[in-house]
Amino acid sequence: MSTSEVNPEFEALLHYLKQNCGCDLTGYKPDSLMRRFQRRMQQLGIENYTSYLQYLQAEPQECTPLLDTILINFSGFFRDRDAWEYLAHKIIPQIITNKQPQEQIRVWSAGCASGEEVYTLVMLLAEILGIEQYLQRVQMFATDVDRDALRRARQGIYNENEVASIPSQLLSKYFEQTEQGYVFCSQLRRSIIFGRHNLAVDAPMSKIDLLVCRNVLIYLKRETQASIFVRFHFALNNQGLLFLGNSESLINQRQIFTPVSIKRRIFAKAKDQKLGLDEHLLLLPQTQDKKAINPLNTYIRIWQAAFETSPLAQLVVDRSGSLLLVNERAYGLFRLQNNHIGAPVRDLEIGQVINSLTVMRRLNRDHHPFSLKNIEWVTDNATTHLDIHITPISDSSGKLIGANLTFIDVTQYIYLKDEFESLNSTLTSLTQELHITRKVLNSTTQELRNIH
Ligand SMILES: C[S@@+](CC[C@H](N)C(=O)[O-])C[C@H]1O[C@@H](n2cnc3c(N)ncnc32)[C@H](O)[C@@H]1O
Repeated sequence: MSTSEVNPEFEALLHYLKQNCGCDLTGYKPDSLMRRFQRRMQQLGIENYTSYLQYLQAEPQECTPLLDTILINFSGFFRDRDAWEYLAHKIIPQIITNKQPQEQIRVWSAGCASGEEVYTLVMLLAEILGIEQYLQRVQMFATDVDRDALRRARQGIYNENEVASIPSQLLSKYFEQTEQGYVFCSQLRRSIIFGRHNLAVDAPMSKIDLLVCRNVLIYLKRETQASIFVRFHFALNNQGLLFLGNSESLINQRQIFTPVSIKRRIFAKAKDQKLGLDEHLLLLPQTQDKKAINPLNTYIRIWQAAFETSPLAQLVVDRSGSLLLVNERAYGLFRLQNNHIGAPVRDLEIGQVINSLTVMRRLNRDHHPFSLKNIEWVTDNATTHLDIHITPISDSSGKLIGANLTFIDVTQYIYLKDEFESLNSTLTSLTQELHITRKVLNSTTQELRNIH
């Protein structure tokens, strides 16, 4: 158990920040988080978390210096030069080769701090593509959770020390020396889309070719890191690449990324690893903030709408055979109500047509989809005939977590089949009668011939 989990005063402080300052720190490693809180408290001469909470309540502007202490914004141009050189000579050319000549290239610097990382990326891409092609083809996103850092990144102004690591020909080509400092080329700077984005909370971007997230995840708990890697997997297109910091590594149990260069921490999205249902749920934004960059919301809504409005009745049951999801057609057909969600299927009217326990037992045994044909659903008004297709739902580790039941109304077909069979039998007896009549006619004709 972590230190913060046994410290209710610290928990109360985190809760206050989450509720009142829109700052969710619950995904950070608690021990280093506490050390950084204490550093700020020492600066103010405050001794315990409860007194600091009272101080925050009285002085709301304290959030800014606190976050400056907590979210370490240290950055630099070409930080870990060897890895950037590899990126420039091997990775970026490969990304460009994989694209059609006019196709867009989408790059995301996640946790961009004061901007050094994103401007390094811009310079490398502009050097390879040329500035004009860069402006036409590259969509560059730069996000951070820290508003103050983002403000500095947007400005793109750096002092002598900060630009010292930039090769001199790039410095003179991409920066203008002014009284305030070295200012990054305004035309290129304006093409970058900066935005506040919390990697642990907000839904990810999509269709990214190169995702650079360096020296951000080290501060986060293992489980938070694991869910962020799932989001990154979603964010990247099929040939997309992920570039981490030198002391960061992948920690997911499943290999959703494969190494391209372990030394430089560059990974490719594993093509044959699709996200499971449980992982898709992890992608959902954990925030009510409508302004958060949120393409996934739309994706999930389309997914949901496709299920709900399907012309075929569908249900989802969990492992124990209880009702989890019902689409519109199934609500009408089986006279289901919202309060039936969570109830065992055998206790509902629909339990007459399907024994969910038997279904789950069979799926548990062989894990294959199967169908039940021509099942009768008898109500006061009518008898409906159904074919039921049953598909197992498994989590990413292959463990069965439920089943999808799709009901196809075959009543018309059954009636037509019955009618066809009865017509067929009438036809057979008429044919037999005709046959007999012909025989009688033949023998009568023969007899008449004999008389004459
Ligand atoms: C040490 S800096 C790294 C900057 C840059 N990526 C680099 O390697 O030079 C870490 C940055 O991550 C940001 N950060 C921390 N937690 C974050 C989160 N949950 N979502 C987005 N950014 C986060 C911090 O605000 C900070 O600007």
